[in-house]
Amino acid sequence: MDSSPLWFLLTVTALTLSCIYIYTIRRKSSAMAARKLPPSPPGLPIIGNMHQVLAGESIYKTLWNLSQKYGPAMLLHFGSQQILLISSSEMANQVLKTNDHELSTRPQSKAAKRMTYNYLDVSFSPSDDHWRDMRKVLVSELLIGKRNKMFKNKLEIEMDGFVRSLLSQPSGTIVNLDDALYSLLEDVTCLVAFGKSHRGKTFNGKNLKEIFNETIVMLGGSLADFFPIVGPILDELRGWNRRLEKSFSDADGFLQMLIDEHFEHNATNKTDDEKCFVDDCISRLTNDEIKAVLMNVLNGAIDTSSTTAVWAMSEIVKSPRIMEKLQKEIRSCVGTKSKVHESDIAKMAYLKMVVKETLRLHGPASFLIGRECVSHCKVGGYDVYPGTKIMINVWGIGRDSRTWKERPNEFWPERFENFKFDFLGKHCEMIPFGGGRRACPGYNSGIATVEFILANLLYVFDWEVPGAVKNQDLDMEEYGSWHIDRKTPLCLVPKEHQGKD
Ligand code: HEM
Repeated sequence: MDSSPLWFLLTVTALTLSCIYIYTIRRKSSAMAARKLPPSPPGLPIIGNMHQVLAGESIYKTLWNLSQKYGPAMLLHFGSQQILLISSSEMANQVLKTNDHELSTRPQSKAAKRMTYNYLDVSFSPSDDHWRDMRKVLVSELLIGKRNKMFKNKLEIEMDGFVRSLLSQPSGTIVNLDDALYSLLEDVTCLVAFGKSHRGKTFNGKNLKEIFNETIVMLGGSLADFFPIVGPILDELRGWNRRLEKSFSDADGFLQMLIDEHFEHNATNKTDDEKCFVDDCISRLTNDEIKAVLMNVLNGAIDTSSTTAVWAMSEIVKSPRIMEKLQKEIRSCVGTKSKVHESDIAKMAYLKMVVKETLRLHGPASFLIGRECVSHCKVGGYDVYPGTKIMINVWGIGRDSRTWKERPNEFWPERFENFKFDFLGKHCEMIPFGGGRRACPGYNSGIATVEFILANLLYVFDWEVPGAVKNQDLDMEEYGSWHIDRKTPLCLVPKEHQGKD
């Protein structure tokens, strides 16, 4: 039998396959060579750059310092995770605006999955139709319209009560503003969201602040998120899994009790003014969806606004010039009325600058909530691939001397006199509320709340640091990794203003 045609066929096939193979390899390696990844600090095997981050005094400062060496778009490795760290307004703009679609989903984590009833909430769910629907419910039923009006109304009543309680105290009494403003905003939020205050009550031996602060700590992450093989075992051994379950069951127990109470007192018998957020949610959402969105409200609305108000008061008290200028403005806008009304605030231009400056230097979140890349895109000319997580350093961007050229670290509200700035604006000069489609939906409410609290506190009282410490020497040390609080509570003495302005 003549075998030459067969040999010919085999040879041609082998040659063709070899050519395809070589072509594919070449293409792959030239694509690899063309990949432009952001610079990375050298890391260690397995843990990557974790040791560099955890070694410093605070994560946001350590990462800011690293970014000064490696650039505003830097690639870090935390165990199995690849993280793009963003540290300038220009790069933040590319993430939050230019590539908002490619980079706007949220990374998954063990704690977020548990705390959000498998991503049924707004803050941690992926950017999909469900997230859009839940965000719509939160905005339409809580943050705008009649419920926003209700929030402002309750805030006026509670603020009035707080001012009166301060006036009734013996002179020289020290007030812990951290605790007082948190309680005030917790009351207002609970009244609007659940229809009643929970002040002084405990659940499983803990008050609301303790329960929901613990959920925030747990959301910081587990070892399993970074080390998928050994992490779960280590989490079990160090008791992290038990702690997560306990935190979830405390929060879940409280939220379920609230919903059960609302089923017992049917909303059909309530007038529109008596109905709260939960009443409206019951007809639109499932049981778990209501609990998930309430978790966002209790984690996202209270602490953020009260911490901002506390930092603002700290900066105001520390600067006699700013306190005097602000009080003059507030008192001239309010006139002879006994208290500040919400409608007076629109005229207070300097107060608005003070709040902006507070959010520039002391935005309560050091980083935005994490994002994750869903399809390839470029940030700062570098390739970013699906699965890469994104962290944006809010703290550093607010103080960056490339953007804030004059006195970047100084509290100087006048910088906003000639700088028309919009919080969710185009250029991301500062991003205390994030940006793009996942920006904070409560930013208007948060700003209005802080402005109203400050105007009232400064209208009625002059404030002093207790003891022998001068106002100018007030301690301003920060505490926390993801949520930046004062290290020591803000304790001040209010003195009723004697009305000579
Ligand atoms: C001064 C007050 C506040 C500050 C500084 C603040 C800050 C932030 C920040 C930094 C984010 C992350 C944005 C991002 O990842 O791009 C966020 C998201 C969010 N905030 Fe706020 N917030 C405030 C008030 C509120 C209020 C009053 C609510 C009302 C419930 C709220 C609800 C939320 C929710 C639900 C998200 C997640 C949005 C999403 O992923 O679609 N926040 N906030």
